[in-house]
Amino acid sequence: MILVAGGAGYIGSHAVIELYNKGYDVLIADNFSNSSPSVLDKLELITGKRFDHITVDLCDLEELKKRTKEYKLSGVIHFAAYKSVGESVSNPLKYYANNLQSLVNSLKLCKERDIRNFVFSSSCTVYGNPNQIPVTEKSKIGKAESPYGKSKVISEEIIQDYHHTHPISICNLRYFNPIGAHESGLIGDYPDGKPNNLLPFVTQVAAGVRDTLSVFGDDYDTHDGTCLRDYIHVVDLAKAHVNAIEYNVKNEGKHSIFNLGTGKGVSVLDLIKTFEKVNNVPINYEIVSRRPGDVEAIFADCHKAKTDLNWIAELNLSKMLTSAWKFQQNILK
Ligand code: WQD
Repeated sequence: MILVAGGAGYIGSHAVIELYNKGYDVLIADNFSNSSPSVLDKLELITGKRFDHITVDLCDLEELKKRTKEYKLSGVIHFAAYKSVGESVSNPLKYYANNLQSLVNSLKLCKERDIRNFVFSSSCTVYGNPNQIPVTEKSKIGKAESPYGKSKVISEEIIQDYHHTHPISICNLRYFNPIGAHESGLIGDYPDGKPNNLLPFVTQVAAGVRDTLSVFGDDYDTHDGTCLRDYIHVVDLAKAHVNAIEYNVKNEGKHSIFNLGTGKGVSVLDLIKTFEKVNNVPINYEIVSRRPGDVEAIFADCHKAKTDLNWIAELNLSKMLTSAWKFQQNILK
């Protein structure tokens, strides 16, 4: 059975589906601080299975140990972390306390229960502002601009240090920009309150929930002046976690790092224009000043995931954007 810490969250819930599709038993642990219990109902609608779940704060080790005692766990996928760059700047202690303590407790649980298969949700944000793109796993760890990004850098170091003394199989997955939603339109990136990321803003503007999209700067040194990102379909990203669990079984005791992206850089204006075209819906936007801390351009070299994880992103930008729009329209129903 695989413990999915943060399994009711955006990426966690998609990973639960892909684990189920490959025949894994799953235990969802979530305190619903950044997700909703209704996701469990949606997962049942999609898969037909009511997943085992425990409502637990990963920062409470004793509770975590107690609530997982009855389950025979063979692996842990740790998603549980806050991920709003902006919120982390205004509330750094919330981010350091939650993101670091929950990780430490997941590792302590592995130690206590002799679980030797661990997959961690990291982020391209650890590269900071890269001086060379595409970035490989060997690219320099940059100066993370936000407490969120710094919590990911520190998390990777915690894992590295833990591995020195407890050489279990660990995959550290550096996500680029996850977007899109499951084809059912039942689960997706549903930020409660104000979205932090580009696409939820775009879909809310498309739906008329918001009047206009602010594009943070068009004076960057890119083909159209707006920032480049490597957007990856959340379902492709979810599938990579199953590959990572299987890779860990075959590579006992190894600590590996993988970039998970498409290898393509897409600008903010590219994304907006493509969204309008594939969904046939206009997006009202205005160019405003740059957002502090934004990286000008970053996208992944994913050759290592292709060769070692036997994984490659398959869903294109159009699928990412149509699935996100379908999910947004479902929310409004
Ligand atoms: C993308 C681009 C903005 C909103 C994200 C996650 C972080 C991590 C890395 C996983 C930037 C522009 C955005 C808006 C805009 N993911 N933008 N108007 O900053 O790359 O970071 O990916 O771990 O958790 O936050 O993503 O979607 O915020 O921004 O112009 O209203 O869209 O300037 O160029 P970012 P983002």
